[in-house]
Amino acid sequence: MTNESVIKKVQHKLCSAKFVAVLTGAGISADSGVPTFRGAEGLWKQHRAEDLASPHAFAHDPKLVWEWYSWRRELIATKVPNLAHEALATMAGRFSSFVLMTQNVDGLHGMAGSQDCLEMHGNIWKVRCTKCFTVTENRDLPIVFPPQCSACGGLLRPHIVWFGEPLDPPVLDRCMHALQSCDVLLVIGTSGVVQPAASFAMMVKSAGGYTVEINLDPTPSSGSIDIVITGKAKDVVPLLCENSIQDV
Ligand code: APR
Repeated sequence: MTNESVIKKVQHKLCSAKFVAVLTGAGISADSGVPTFRGAEGLWKQHRAEDLASPHAFAHDPKLVWEWYSWRRELIATKVPNLAHEALATMAGRFSSFVLMTQNVDGLHGMAGSQDCLEMHGNIWKVRCTKCFTVTENRDLPIVFPPQCSACGGLLRPHIVWFGEPLDPPVLDRCMHALQSCDVLLVIGTSGVVQPAASFAMMVKSAGGYTVEINLDPTPSSGSIDIVITGKAKDVVPLLCENSIQDV
């Protein structure tokens, strides 16, 4: 099927959907100039994930970890949402239920106007005290090491879910509910290699939902996804919004 025919098929599915869930990954922000993690220009090319985004790395060399996050913050601070982020913000109001789950920590969904986005892996503009665990917003650029908690003086860490750490239980619960209940899941710009997000499409299919993948390349899930649309998120996602208007 041509991309045009698959897009029409998804638009049709969305027209009759009551509950739409969306999972996004770094690919949706690539069109805003935020490097992905595993692509040719991948973020990890300069930095190995295991060397930096883990509790062990932070315990071993918190200054190095903060240098990397400070570099990422300065890069992301210059980026703005693209047409895909904006289309999802608009789409939310067109369905009885709409849940946006993102693995991204760049905050671009919120900037685009998406309310109540489930930031599964945290947010790069939030920090957490390693002593009193207070979570605060922090937009210091650059981060001056060591960043200290204003309440107790403890060392601050990025409020991000690192490799080997669990997702926030209330966030995960809301994701699980959405996966069990949605009519359609859109999986946008994720390589599908990091759990639990990598299993979301299979979970929706098991619950009887319809799954759509939007990516530049095939992923491990592509073979079991109902509809795979190859293309850039900024080009494809706005098209899915067209004709998906329905009487809510
Ligand atoms: N439009 C759509 N998809 C795109 C685009 C684009 N313009 N550009 C890249 N992609 C796709 C790539 O083909 C790839 O499948 O986006 C995906 C990005 O994959 P990753 O870099 O692995 O990012 P992601 O899947 O979000 O990583 C998941 O891994 O490192 C951890 O916590 C980190 O949240 C991250 C998680």
